[in-house]
Amino acid sequence: MRISVIGCGYLGAVHAAVLAHLGHDVVGIDVDPEKVAVLASGHTTFFEPGLAELLAAGTQSGRLRFSTDPAELAGAVVHFVCVGTPQRADSGLADLAAVDAAVAALLPRLASGDLVVGKSTVPVGTAASVLGRLRAAGSTARVVWNPEFLREGHAVGDTLRPDRLVYGVADEGSDDGAADVALLDEVYADLLRRGVPRVVTDLPTAELAKVAANSFLATKISFANAMAEVCEAAGGDAVALARTMAYDPRIGAQYLGVGLGFGGGCLPKDIRAFAATADELGVGRSVAFLHEVDEINDRCQDRAVELVGRAAGGLRGARVAVLGAAFKPESDDVRSSPALDLAVRIADEGADVVVTDPQALLRAQLVAPQLRYAVDAVEALTGADVVVLATEWQEYRSLDPAAVAAVVRRRCVVDTRNVWDLQQWQAAGFQAAALGRSAVRPGAGAARDAASEGGLAAPGG
Ligand code: UDX
Repeated sequence: MRISVIGCGYLGAVHAAVLAHLGHDVVGIDVDPEKVAVLASGHTTFFEPGLAELLAAGTQSGRLRFSTDPAELAGAVVHFVCVGTPQRADSGLADLAAVDAAVAALLPRLASGDLVVGKSTVPVGTAASVLGRLRAAGSTARVVWNPEFLREGHAVGDTLRPDRLVYGVADEGSDDGAADVALLDEVYADLLRRGVPRVVTDLPTAELAKVAANSFLATKISFANAMAEVCEAAGGDAVALARTMAYDPRIGAQYLGVGLGFGGGCLPKDIRAFAATADELGVGRSVAFLHEVDEINDRCQDRAVELVGRAAGGLRGARVAVLGAAFKPESDDVRSSPALDLAVRIADEGADVVVTDPQALLRAQLVAPQLRYAVDAVEALTGADVVVLATEWQEYRSLDPAAVAAVVRRRCVVDTRNVWDLQQWQAAGFQAAALGRSAVRPGAGAARDAASEGGLAAPGG
């Protein structure tokens, strides 16, 4: 099938490459000529495992093309709208300028029977207004909302093997609605044959499916981090506490990871946009808890700064190695990155911070040029007074305490992602602290233990 994908960022580039892999004839349209040139040559513009191979195969086969020319939209039967919907500068609401521009580019090129499929995360009601715009302009093209749930770092696998497909259709139950479903079923025939569940619903429910899921995930993470605050005050261990909960299948183990909190291009902005949209709908109170979720997430940073400060015995002049700048491993994305934000805050407090990351250094340098950067962990660690694990890349998870001990100035580590075995570090003579497992507030928890120093568990303890 001939398909267009409008917007070739994290979502669109992956979607276009996967659709070509599934055998469709795909053109990706983007306004950024540099991005289009890189993608058209079969390369990626960002780090995403498995994507480069798919892009190279797709462009070589001739089934995948990229262009800046909206005229290329004509002739495609299904048009996926995959543009970004960032947070507006003046409020929590989503900025829909790119969605509006995509619809404007499509309008003169839509044929009768074409299907416009929204994948971007949008405020509820957007699909209906897109449909209204098409009708006002005399187009009979149809609109479906088909939200995307892919995670960065796993985007190819999540697109090829999604947990579910959600179709929001207009006139559900009518012949037109059934035709929309049948056409989208053709696009995803391979996935459906493999048993991927499909939920057909109305437009608003499909739009809400994405923000509801992301809000739930953010809430789960903030719940775990709220328990971490309580554990720090009470002398408990938030990681062990989460483990006790995770054995209950009604709760589950995922997204209870205690640490620096959530970041990235989706969760933070999506919960704010959802709260702002709910306010506009007059149901702000229904999701008022999302403000609290956001605040708990922000406080993870405050607690981490405090913990690193106590580990360092004061941040001013301390040489701090920050391992990780990306918002999570397997990604070079630094948008709302808790790791990079932490590095900036520690530097603002007067520490001499050196940041390293296996993939995100270039992007981090653009966002935070005031920081010092090291090309690898050894360079960052050499001469450090405190080592802070901020993004849990595998290469940092598996660092050998003895090798680290050989290059640092002072043996002191802070794990803000709770992936290190602190006892191993302590056995190598390190003072080791972790968010949610070491008392942050003076006089609380482990700080009551005479053997601990500055909220840190004692070596060998
Ligand atoms: C998220 C959703 O998972 C995905 O379904 C949606 O389509 C887009 O938003 P993504 O932004 O790629 O995906 O990241 P995700 O893997 O969900 O992680 C988000 C943030 O939460 C990261 O900063 C991560 O480090 C953090 N996180 C995750 C935790 O702090 N604790 C956890 O237990 C899990």
